[in-house]
Amino acid sequence: MGNVHVLDHPLIQHKLTYIRDKNTGTKEFRELVDEVAMLMAFEITRNLPLQDQTVETPVMETKAKVLAGKKIGLIPILRAGLGMVDGMLNLLPAARVGHVGLYRDPETLEPVEYYIKLPKDISERELIVLDPMLATGGSANDAIHSLKKRGGKQIRLMCLVGAPEGVERIQQEHPDVDIYLAAMDEKLNDHGYIVPGLGDAGDRLFGTK
Ligand code: PRP
Ligand code: URA
Repeated sequence: MGNVHVLDHPLIQHKLTYIRDKNTGTKEFRELVDEVAMLMAFEITRNLPLQDQTVETPVMETKAKVLAGKKIGLIPILRAGLGMVDGMLNLLPAARVGHVGLYRDPETLEPVEYYIKLPKDISERELIVLDPMLATGGSANDAIHSLKKRGGKQIRLMCLVGAPEGVERIQQEHPDVDIYLAAMDEKLNDHGYIVPGLGDAGDRLFGTK
């Protein structure tokens, strides 16, 4: 069973409160999502492998640590996942970015895939799927299936807000995938929205409502 990690650092909790606030406008919403994604990137990369490197300080030569160059692929689920990419890239500038385009049919709540473009070597990369919302889990589930079908092996899922329904679905269908959230919310409402949630992440990010 994949582990669920709630990254509840005080800075993440503080910023998430303003992301949830319905009075937060598009510009500020986008900036806050960007900042929280960067803070989550800091937490999620805590176990990246390191290697020794010799460095000459002004005082002497010494051995110090640098990243061992693990290849990372960031996979935003369009559209709302795009809001998390820049924050991640601030800390992981060498990561490649693959896109999975999915929208959730408002009637059936089933995801519909309309676009996919991935780095060629996804089987060698540690893939981090990005989407602010994990509601029914349908979109993340489909995106992860798509990655696996194309050779993805090491996959993690990073969202801002998760509902228990979505978390359970991913745990059942993808027990190999660890889930990282800024918050675990209560439930879904009758329209499949997370409660209390933050509303429609894509519309709030891009000002389409
Ligand atoms: C939202 C959100 C997730 C999905 C979550 O996308 O960004 O991708 O819904 O819901 P689920 O867990 O029930 O699948 P939406 O379909 O609204 O598309 P958008 O990002 O283009 O707005
Ligand atoms: N998609 C969103 O954007 N928000 C929700 O609460 C659920 C799905």
